[in-house]
Amino acid sequence: MTIDHARNIADLQILSKKRLPAPMYHFIEGGADDELSLRHNISAFDDYTLTPNFMTNVDNIDTKSRFLNHEAAMPLILSPTGTTRLFHHEKELAVAKAGAKYGVPYSLSAMSTTTLEEIGQVPDCHKIFQVYIMRDRSLTTDWVARTKAAGYQSICLTVDTPMAGNRERDLLTGMTIPPKFSLATLLSFAKHPHWLANFALHPKFELSNIKHKSDILGELGNTSVIEYVNSQFDRSITWDDAAWLAEQWDGPFIIKGLMSASDAKKARDVGATAIMISNHGGRQLDSAPAPIDCVKAMRDEIGDDLELIVDGGVRRGNHIVKALAAGANACSIGRPYLYGLAAGGQKGVEKCLSIFKTELERTMTLMGARTIAEIQPEHLNKL
Ligand code: FNR
Repeated sequence: MTIDHARNIADLQILSKKRLPAPMYHFIEGGADDELSLRHNISAFDDYTLTPNFMTNVDNIDTKSRFLNHEAAMPLILSPTGTTRLFHHEKELAVAKAGAKYGVPYSLSAMSTTTLEEIGQVPDCHKIFQVYIMRDRSLTTDWVARTKAAGYQSICLTVDTPMAGNRERDLLTGMTIPPKFSLATLLSFAKHPHWLANFALHPKFELSNIKHKSDILGELGNTSVIEYVNSQFDRSITWDDAAWLAEQWDGPFIIKGLMSASDAKKARDVGATAIMISNHGGRQLDSAPAPIDCVKAMRDEIGDDLELIVDGGVRRGNHIVKALAAGANACSIGRPYLYGLAAGGQKGVEKCLSIFKTELERTMTLMGARTIAEIQPEHLNKL
């Protein structure tokens, strides 16, 4: 199978598995502990059905959607994912360019392997920079200033990572960041000479937005990213810190990682524009609920005061429709576009977005919704 022949996101996943050495593939694919949340994020969508309305003249389907003070071509966002250079040498630039081509926003991660300024130059892309609040606050304030200077439209604060989740697949595969060539990993790297050549011949792996802080980073190579997260991400942060960040940023402000109605209220009180309902793709707290199951209670609590984005487990166009019918404004995807990226760089990310666009249009046509606004709660049933 080639990228052109991929029928769905599951096919892109198969292609990425073939292309990547096991440590990299399982780093993308894995979740925390027993991976309950990872699996449930996806399977929870099966507990909802969609009731169609027929004879509504579905000759023209319009997937345009307004959120984050921006009109996107469809209600979808490319979530922040760190360390992207490990998966393909075209790395974050490929994702931002594909996002621009398909008219969907891209969130660059603070742990990215391309500078935020370089991504800032990609035209026609709604850009979001995702930050953490660090023990060294000057790093966070620097990021905000750089995000403004680079012309980003939105900022996103991830709050579900007071420490790194327990990802046991990485222990099994010998995955370290940056990768080390050890006995455990050697065979798997040797079986993927294409990946190995690309890794060796293209610009080297670096965490581009923190590398200037060599004092706190240590020498990456001696310090793994997990150790870095555990030592530098500030565990003492509270809602006052979110308010502190909101004050510095003048524009759409997303808080990523919330799951409860009570936290939704607090997010509104500190001036957030949107919540990314997320359990970090099942990579942090295992047993956290599936994002799709959190929408209704949050919407009931905050009314229309905040936008809600479902992040986690979205693999089909009908998942987007279910999330919107439940009360969300948009969805966000991580692994689906990483599968595409790993399978074939920008072309693979574009394929991922074209699959979502086609599936979304088909689902809307079959259920009689001509516009995003016509996707309503009465279409949705919980089993
Ligand atoms: C992530 N995610 C993530 N989130 C974040 O806020 N900052 C980050 O740097 C990363 N890094 C990261 C790396 C990799 C390899 C993955 C798979 C995920 C989480 C990501 O933004 C998103 O929440 C999930 O990927 C959503 O779940 P799905 O779409 O992968 O099911």
